[in-house]
Amino acid sequence: MNASYSTDAQFIHPSILNADFMRIGEELDRIGTADSVHVDVMDNHFVPNLTFGPSMVEQIVERSPIPVDAHLMIADADRQAPVFAEAGASSVTFHAEAAAAPVRLARELRRKNTAAGIALRPATAVEPLLDVIGEFDMLLIMTVEPGFGGQSFLESMLAKVRRARAAISEANLQVSIQVDGGVSRETIERAAEAGANVFVAGSAIYRAQDAAAEISALRELAAAHSAH
Ligand code: DX5
Ligand code: ZN
Repeated sequence: MNASYSTDAQFIHPSILNADFMRIGEELDRIGTADSVHVDVMDNHFVPNLTFGPSMVEQIVERSPIPVDAHLMIADADRQAPVFAEAGASSVTFHAEAAAAPVRLARELRRKNTAAGIALRPATAVEPLLDVIGEFDMLLIMTVEPGFGGQSFLESMLAKVRRARAAISEANLQVSIQVDGGVSRETIERAAEAGANVFVAGSAIYRAQDAAAEISALRELAAAHSAH
């Protein structure tokens, strides 16, 4: 599936980084009403944490009732990202800081029928990317330093979201903007107003008693405050 997300709709992607890994099947079922499951791949090099490899992602793809959105926090994205497309992820997002040839890599992912995303750490500027942003299906603006769940949303990233959305609209492109880190009922409205349309939430959803209720609450807040 070439999951180019419609920029006219809001998408909720729970992050399983905050799930109970001993019960991963049930944890995937808990979020079955979400749009995609966000899988944080970390290599203990690009970030100081270690999570899933391609064979685990392949098993998650097989088991998950919804598509898999892989967020690669790994070095050497050029060589590694295609492996995650082959593992069956519907979208693969790699970090701009870790890719030598991001446009070539995005084209390779799209040739494999996978949506291509590019991610920016909080201190990475979006401007150098804007001339090539049409090569991607999604821009991920990190709203925490990548590496761990449960951190606080960086309000200062809203200006970056706004500038990116303005440039994408001006160029008449259909590129989604994803925000990841500290997204909750308290922060999702401002992210939606700024122009984000894909929302990753880890602890907000997995710490809720009723994950499905939390997913619909987040979706409704995002829709009510959408920049469109
Ligand atoms: C952080 C990850 C996020 C994280 C989000 O490096 O990319 O996806 O799991 O978790 P919360 O929503 O708890 O900030
Ligand atoms: Zn993530």
